Amino acid sequence: MQSIRAHRTGPPSVLHLEEVDRPEPAAGEVLVQVQAAALNPPDWYARGGYQQIPEGLRPPVPLPYTPGTDVSGVVVGIGPGVTGWEEGDEVLGLLRFPRGGTGSARGYAQFTTAPVEDLARKPSHIDHIHAAAIPMAGLTAWQYLTEYAPIESGQTVLVNGAAGGVGHFLVQLARRAGARVVAVASTAHADFLRGLGVDEYIDYTTTHVADAVKDVDHVFDTVGGPNGHLLIPAIRDGGVISPVFFGDYGEDELVRRQIRHLGGQVRSNGNQLADLVKLVASGDVRVAVDEVYPLAQAEQAHERAERGHIQGKLVLEVTH
Ligand SMILES: NC(=O)c1ccc[n+]([C@@H]2O[C@H](COP(=O)([O-])OP(=O)(O)OC[C@H]3O[C@@H](n4cnc5c(N)ncnc54)[C@H](OP(=O)(O)O)[C@@H]3O)[C@@H](O)[C@H]2O)c1
Repeated sequence: MQSIRAHRTGPPSVLHLEEVDRPEPAAGEVLVQVQAAALNPPDWYARGGYQQIPEGLRPPVPLPYTPGTDVSGVVVGIGPGVTGWEEGDEVLGLLRFPRGGTGSARGYAQFTTAPVEDLARKPSHIDHIHAAAIPMAGLTAWQYLTEYAPIESGQTVLVNGAAGGVGHFLVQLARRAGARVVAVASTAHADFLRGLGVDEYIDYTTTHVADAVKDVDHVFDTVGGPNGHLLIPAIRDGGVISPVFFGDYGEDELVRRQIRHLGGQVRSNGNQLADLVKLVASGDVRVAVDEVYPLAQAEQAHERAERGHIQGKLVLEVTH
């Protein structure tokens, strides 16, 4: 089969399409003929050798490395002990995250193995490209809102990075939970976010968030980084900051204003994914795909990802 592999960590050009052996499903796994695989930040963090993390703390990247945790495809083989899944089933999933460690999912390939507990069934009217775009970003939003950092109906919720993979799920799920949603994104995403039904949109390229909005109950920050603290004046005393990525929020100020700091790490979960897929299938939640690349152009897709300003998701289409 064909698979993307990197034999060293580095820039997107380390990704090559190669001929490799088809994997065998282990106990509790199925073999999936991959039709589409979405890109996620951990794919390019690992490919680049985790340069964002201080040396000494960087996780090892097993080589050769095949990125890809999010797939949609068709079951074509059944491993020992698997019941309830059959060849021909259409599935999607966030594979072995984070429990398998870097490189354990290997979605950028024509075939991959998948633990059945990580999978949900794909409704026939959602295509594989859009299905592959759901798992990691959608489950992150789902787990933040239901487990790590729940919100209450009637609250004002601000999503920073609202047009991105995680952000566009967060704004929609927060609205469904009854929140008034303020979305922060660059100029190009204004119409997109209004189309998702946000109550207020702030263009961070022209406006300081804290000048435009005050007394927010809960901020979800998918951007993080050294400017995270600029969001804090927009939050009411006793409110919540939920970093989806590490940010510098000024711990002393959080303590002084009794702002809680709530977050967590997304995990594979086929049952939660199935619940989210129902909302996509009914049209209640929209999945946005920014661009689609053929598997052989994983390098170009990673270059695009590194340029940022993504609206929804980038997806690789896999042909056979
Ligand atoms: N905690 C977890 O388990 C978990 C799970 C998934 C992802 N993450 C992390 O969450 C982050 C977001 O992931 P993602 O997949 O959503 O990434 P993404 O699709 O690249 O989205 C990031 C979004 O942020 C926007 N943005 C960039 N700079 C901004 C700024 N200064 N202010 C406001 N918006 C800005 C970008 O577009 P514009 O600049 O054009 O608006 C883009 O739409 C990543 O760092 C990822 O590693 C964590």
